[in-house]
Amino acid sequence: DMGGHDTYMHKEISEQADAVDRVLRGRIDDRFSTVHLGGLNLDPREARAIRRVKILGCGTSYHAGQIGAQMIEELARIPSDAEPASEFRYRNPVVDPDTLYIAVSQSGETYDVLAAVQELKRKGARVLGVVNVVGSAIARETHGGVYVHAGPEVCVVSTKCFTNTVVAFGLLALHLGRIRDLSVADGKRIIEGLRKLPGQIQEILAMEDEVKQLAAEYAEARSMMFIGRVRGYPVAREASLKLKEISYIHAEAYPASELKHGPLALIEPAMPTVAIVPDDDLLEKNRAAMEEIKARSGRILAVAHQKQDKADHTIVVPKNENELDPILMGIPLQLLAYHVALAMGRDIDKPRNLAKSVTVE
Ligand code: M6R
Repeated sequence: DMGGHDTYMHKEISEQADAVDRVLRGRIDDRFSTVHLGGLNLDPREARAIRRVKILGCGTSYHAGQIGAQMIEELARIPSDAEPASEFRYRNPVVDPDTLYIAVSQSGETYDVLAAVQELKRKGARVLGVVNVVGSAIARETHGGVYVHAGPEVCVVSTKCFTNTVVAFGLLALHLGRIRDLSVADGKRIIEGLRKLPGQIQEILAMEDEVKQLAAEYAEARSMMFIGRVRGYPVAREASLKLKEISYIHAEAYPASELKHGPLALIEPAMPTVAIVPDDDLLEKNRAAMEEIKARSGRILAVAHQKQDKADHTIVVPKNENELDPILMGIPLQLLAYHVALAMGRDIDKPRNLAKSVTVE
């Protein structure tokens, strides 16, 4: 049932405020400025003993994991990174007893992720899951974890589950942070930010007409560039994947700083750039990157917290805490991918060559 929407993708994009409400519900503990995660199965002594975090997933879940790794590193100060689950399992990784491994999956059935979990367990590692489908193979195989509670996602391209997965990582990062060295004041600040998310998501969804108008222009592009730095980079990668999957327009995502090391050669009027420009300590750096693109007559669409004069158009999104901004900045780009694909007449819920869950190697 599409509930009055023309596609599941549109329905699922539109449901995100409610979905985020669900992942937060019952978990916030104002008294200690932390969150309760019932199924984590990790006591405070164990949480304090973690020396590294390694996050494994595929596709969109991998991108959510990249943001998650940054959140855990920032809030809990544990060195963290994300890697595609398939790369990890094929490179005979060193499995370290002081590392916490986290498997991320919407379906909980992705074979590469499941196989990575099984290999890790065989070697004695501790593995948690950040999973949407309750009781799925990965949920059962992991030692504990955080359910994402996005609800059923039908469209092959993931939208609401991406957002909820990143919020679930925000909760996990806050939880680990408060057991370690995150102050009460910072805990409070993050909780306030989390509580603002559903309302801010509604504000972004209300900009759909503006995004739709832009889409007509971008549906003409043969290729697009997505750039961001640090917190904005995984957002750029995910937005680039969304566009590719449903519009079949070629898209690349690069850290803004890497442009001058090669991809700047691609910039010309027919190769528009989408720039993720949060109002944080890297704002000036991002402005400089946009200036370089403008100097090569590239067109720029910025997603930012204030109007960018270097960009041809800015989608202005509401500001949250710096650490939580990535949760919101991708949402207008889900709408952009959707409307570009719609303008091109694509089969949005079932893009060619793709399956919702990839249960084979
Ligand atoms: O169910 P999972 O989260 O494990 O699936 C992982 C990927 O196959 C999935 O995210 C894929 O990239 C989607 N088509 C993204 O929209």
